[in-house]
Amino acid sequence: MTKSSELSGFYKLPVQERIKTIKEYAGLTDQETDLLRQSGALQLETANRMIENVIGVMPVPMGVAANFLVNDKDRLVPMAIEEPSVVAAASNAARMARGKGGFRTVSTDPIMIGQIQIVGIHDVHRARFEILAQKDAILKHANNQDPVLVSLGGGARDLEVRVLETMLGKMVIAELMVDCRDAMGANAVNTMAEAVAPLVEQISGGRVYLRIISNLAVRRLTYAKAVFDKELLGGEEVVDGIINAYAFAQADPFRCATHNKGIMNGVTAVVLASGNDTRAIEAGAHAYAARSGHYTPLSTWEKTKNGDLVGTLEMPMAVGIVGGATASNPMAKIALKIMGIKSAKELAEVIVSVGLAQNLAALRALAAEGIQRGHMSLHARNIAISAGASGDLIDKISAQMVAERMVRLDRAKELLTEYTKH
Ligand code: MEV
Repeated sequence: MTKSSELSGFYKLPVQERIKTIKEYAGLTDQETDLLRQSGALQLETANRMIENVIGVMPVPMGVAANFLVNDKDRLVPMAIEEPSVVAAASNAARMARGKGGFRTVSTDPIMIGQIQIVGIHDVHRARFEILAQKDAILKHANNQDPVLVSLGGGARDLEVRVLETMLGKMVIAELMVDCRDAMGANAVNTMAEAVAPLVEQISGGRVYLRIISNLAVRRLTYAKAVFDKELLGGEEVVDGIINAYAFAQADPFRCATHNKGIMNGVTAVVLASGNDTRAIEAGAHAYAARSGHYTPLSTWEKTKNGDLVGTLEMPMAVGIVGGATASNPMAKIALKIMGIKSAKELAEVIVSVGLAQNLAALRALAAEGIQRGHMSLHARNIAISAGASGDLIDKISAQMVAERMVRLDRAKELLTEYTKH
């Protein structure tokens, strides 16, 4: 008989009771439920206040990328990711960027957009005008919702109104431009959009439906640039290979998705380590990449006059260092401390630098040697460890398996027996 997934009252149970319920439901062993209970740095009770129906936490390795020099400041960058090679690749690319001054970055003000959807208006341009004419009153009402943000120099700065053609006819979209300072801003912006909605209804004579932040944060952009010495990269041919890879991504969405995925390997890992919303950043990144109606690479790659490689990366970066999981997850606080981050802008700039480094590392590996070799040697180390190797034997056995192109547990065990015989 299949069991019902309707767990009545489950959400009200204490965590330990929920674990018992799931144990029975799924036939978990005592060992498995012990693992659920071992939540590590994020205590179960803290996790239980963060989301609903908590029964455990999902650990992801956190590594530190070295060598980053961002606007002349050295940074160690914690990255939370399950994929091998990413942290090593970021560190390696950051090392190669140092010779020519490391990463330079620029950011816009941290402005997020709050959208208010107004329907049922016959004369949409009149409504648009009247909303704009009441801009000061609307902004004032928005700012009354968040005196703390305003006292820190943030708050609703501007109001824009668009007439949108939709499948259901014309709609009027009012957009609050909110300076979120050191917050990601979703709470502040959503509160403001909800608060001004009745006023907007009254002014426009229409009916408001959605009142919500946009993750396409085109007013909160960070730009990074780095120059990579052609000799350090492996010569002119490698530089040309990388520029060819970039041209391929520009011309083809199938390649471009993977090109941008490589960037997001770095970006998302730091966003996660810092306790920020990875989905918001991913949504913003891909929507930004497609803003022209054509999906494009988030980065650019060119040759300088003397043949070095210069890369830039430009993307929305709506991250905060106050509120949300940055405040509740102790690992996020530690990550920010390791990075030496003092503002959301600094965090955004480190993240976009890591994205650029990650893209360089991937393209260089693809252009120069094929990505599989790097991945293989890490994989081989894991296999050697699984076979029981320790100390120097891990490197010896994994190197031999890679050379033989035979990275398998049975081969690792054979080699271990051979090496330990003598
Ligand atoms: C793998 O996670 C990322 C890459 O595929 C990115 C790329 O192809 O540019 C290596």
